[in-house]
Amino acid sequence: MSVDRARLERRIAELSAIGGTGMSVTRLGLSAEEQRARDLVGGWLRARGATVRRDAAANLYGRFGDDRSPAILVGSHIDSVPEGGRFDGALGVLCAVEAVDALLDDGVKFKRPVEIVGWCDEEGARFGIGLFGSSAAFGRLPGGAAQRADKDGVTIAAALRAIDEAGDPTKAKRDTAGLAAYLELHIEQGPRLAERGIPLGVVSDIVGLMHGRVTVHGRQDHAGATVMTAREDALAAASEMVLAVEAAARALPDAVGTVGEITVRPGAKNVVPGECVFSLDLRARSEATVEQLGRDVRAAIRRIGDARGVRSSIDVLSRVPAVPLDPPLRDLFLRSAKQVGVDAPELFSGAGHDAENSQLAGVPTGMLFVRSTGGSHNPNELATLDDAVLGAQALALALKELAG
Ligand code: HGY
Ligand code: MN
Ligand code: MN
Repeated sequence: MSVDRARLERRIAELSAIGGTGMSVTRLGLSAEEQRARDLVGGWLRARGATVRRDAAANLYGRFGDDRSPAILVGSHIDSVPEGGRFDGALGVLCAVEAVDALLDDGVKFKRPVEIVGWCDEEGARFGIGLFGSSAAFGRLPGGAAQRADKDGVTIAAALRAIDEAGDPTKAKRDTAGLAAYLELHIEQGPRLAERGIPLGVVSDIVGLMHGRVTVHGRQDHAGATVMTAREDALAAASEMVLAVEAAARALPDAVGTVGEITVRPGAKNVVPGECVFSLDLRARSEATVEQLGRDVRAAIRRIGDARGVRSSIDVLSRVPAVPLDPPLRDLFLRSAKQVGVDAPELFSGAGHDAENSQLAGVPTGMLFVRSTGGSHNPNELATLDDAVLGAQALALALKELAG
């Protein structure tokens, strides 16, 4: 399998440079940087003879083969979190392109169409809807998604129109009968492969998650003239709630709970905060635990609000169930990893992925992990070129078996 190491290395650098400053990358969903990334990858695909298109949710597709028979879809997301790493999502797109290039270089004739995808806005960092592009493609967008706005009040519809789309992402829904399978390579983003000294892993299942937004209503007041016993301090109450989220997640097996965003109004040093809004990211490997964690967090927020005399409300922004991936495709990736000399372990994914949406929509889905170090969603996130090459080779072998 002639994966071209130099070509992959060059393309990692080219894509990382879009929205990149040094080690970190900021390529938010529906941003100009994300569009430049689509243009870069689309150019590579077009140059190789693919039919390249962008759908109504700004997902990028490059199709090799006819439009009639069900395709093998392969790719990942092309956006990043703010000040994120160079490999989250991007490596899956780059290795998908490299795998197809390597097969074509080897003269492989696809017996069924192969379509490369660069999903739009998987992170949901700007508009708050995670897995946005693949949710649109697989008909799983939350209601009213197009009207969800970023912190500047720009809606998804407006951002789509700004890149000459109509503005209705639901039009991106595709007929899953046209897809035979979806494959996604992704960095592990955790320490397990690195700790075992193994470059590849195969994903068995992906955790369930709930994204929410908590609004705490206190009473805005003077920081000097309001005695401590007469306050309804929204930020102090929210701070106690944030710690309660952490405690609730610590108390349950395979559960995590994170508050990554918090805003205070009016946000002045001499004003007792009147309102505080914070994000909720709750996940667990089993559905029962996700539900239990949600109940425990709701109860804690209510208890703390009552004790402090502040009102609070919780909006559920998205809820994706725990997803076991396709067993035959897990076996395929185990075989492909073996063929490149790796005895890959099966691991669950604590990170969410577009692969959830395809599997939930009934498209058999498989994921291949590449070892990463330095954590993730930070500039230190790292996958070595050696591991990336191994990943691309294993992906190419899996693709060859499915489509070659
Ligand atoms: O949040 C996640 O798990 C993914 O990185 N979007
Ligand atoms: Mn991510
Ligand atoms: Mn990702």
